[in-house]
Amino acid sequence: MDKIVVTHPEEKHFTFDQIPDLTGKVAIVTGGNAGIGYFTCRELTRKNAHVFLLGRNIEQGQAAVETIKSETGNQNVEFLHLNLKSLKSVEECAETFLARNLPLHILINNAGVTTNTFSLTEDGIQEEFGVNHVGHFLLTKLLLSKIKASQPARIVNVSALGHRKVTGIEFETLNDPNAQEPRQRYRQSKLANVLFTDELNRRYFEGEQVYANSLHPGVVDTNMLRRDDFSIAKTLFLFLSHLKMELLLPYIVLLVQKSKRKIIVEGILIHSV
Ligand SMILES: NC(=O)c1ccc[n+]([C@@H]2O[C@H](COP(=O)([O-])OP(=O)(O)OC[C@H]3O[C@@H](n4cnc5c(N)ncnc54)[C@H](OP(=O)(O)O)[C@@H]3O)[C@@H](O)[C@H]2O)c1
Repeated sequence: MDKIVVTHPEEKHFTFDQIPDLTGKVAIVTGGNAGIGYFTCRELTRKNAHVFLLGRNIEQGQAAVETIKSETGNQNVEFLHLNLKSLKSVEECAETFLARNLPLHILINNAGVTTNTFSLTEDGIQEEFGVNHVGHFLLTKLLLSKIKASQPARIVNVSALGHRKVTGIEFETLNDPNAQEPRQRYRQSKLANVLFTDELNRRYFEGEQVYANSLHPGVVDTNMLRRDDFSIAKTLFLFLSHLKMELLLPYIVLLVQKSKRKIIVEGILIHSV
């Protein structure tokens, strides 16, 4: 974390059309029913990947799958139930996927939550940390052998630039409702995404063709920013409203295909070394 190099990518404005064909690739995207996750699922499907769209709301997830099928003409997209607020649900989701006996080339840990209201997950972990990091941590660990067996493969952990506004994770006060202000809780969970990514690479992927990346998607107009309790970010979004979803999302998908161990920030690549 102390060594971060910022460079500009060669191609700053590429389009979905430049994403290569993904025939034969299997992808999982968490939080695929809405926002960034939905567009990621849609474009992976359009490029012929076999996509598993994971979400906690069955009705919305299945509706998203049907919309993607009709928008892309590709039927190879499926819904799997995953509630990251429950480690039991994470285990069940991984088991359901593994029972299909498919390879796994792309895992995009995208789902995320931020809220002003303090709450705990089913397992007694502060919500942002539990959903944004611990749930994804467990999902990734349960799928790790499958991913390694399917290499070349990639993991993308969707983080946020806000992780740079905290200096560490305050584990002692994580579950104290009064100790941390809401944005700090979110930022610490996003720092956990980055540290988790680095540790995946260091512990498991040295010399392997498996690449873990953490990603800041930019400021994107999604449900996360539309909620009333996220008004600062909403204001920021309006200020940065030239950044459109359709321009930003290709970076995620291109990252899956092209890069190795990088964080990408609105067309600026931050190489984590
Ligand atoms: N939008 C931005 O400007 C921005 C900036 C930096 C980073 N990010 C990151 O980008 C990622 C995607 O966010 P977004 O902007 O696309 O927000 P979004 O539209 O609110 O989407 C978040 C997704 O996460 C899902 N989710 C939330 N809690 C969940 C749980 N307990 N179990 C399973 N799924 C859950 C949501 O499902 P429901 O629809 O059921 O709630 C939704 O599908 C997040 O990790 C976020 O931190 C976004």
